[in-house]
Amino acid sequence: MTSFKPRSFPLSGLTGISDKTLEMHFGLYEGYVKQTNLLTEQLAELARAGKAASNPAYAEMTRHLGYEYGGMVLHEYYFENLAPKGKGKPSADLTKALEDTFGSFETWKADFVAVGGLRGVGWAVLYRDPASGRMTNQWITLHEQGVPAGYCPILVMDAWEHAFLLDYKPSERGKYIEAFFSNINWEEVSERATRAGK
Ligand SMILES: [Fe+2]
Repeated sequence: MTSFKPRSFPLSGLTGISDKTLEMHFGLYEGYVKQTNLLTEQLAELARAGKAASNPAYAEMTRHLGYEYGGMVLHEYYFENLAPKGKGKPSADLTKALEDTFGSFETWKADFVAVGGLRGVGWAVLYRDPASGRMTNQWITLHEQGVPAGYCPILVMDAWEHAFLLDYKPSERGKYIEAFFSNINWEEVSERATRAGK
């Protein structure tokens, strides 16, 4: 069985998000990769041994797989949509899609920032629905609750406290979101939007 390998991201020197935070964050991400591999292997083993059906442990592990899997994948989207001091600009296609749905780029941003500020731990995600081309900002609780089926993540922001607690107070999530916006890799985000719109 092929296992997932943790990816590396050259993000040193972000504005307002310290290298110390990133180092710690990469370590957490690697934990999700490790747990995803472990659970995937254990679940396959139970299935092979005919011990999957009607097994409460199997059921619990399957539910937990969504948590670890989401933790792995969302962190990859997150790190990938960052670049020191940001990169590029939102493409014409992305800007138009945001304007079509939200009326203006500024309104989209205000909505995304508000979603990112929701109480609790989770993620703010801008999605594109490949079927309609429409955009929507949504909140994911933990790593797995609130993912619309088939929607493509375009911009992903970690809103767990570990993403900013070394740099800001718990009450200063707004400052972290501001820092996040100053480091967005718009080239990557625009490519995702284009891919999802086809
Ligand atoms: Fe995180």
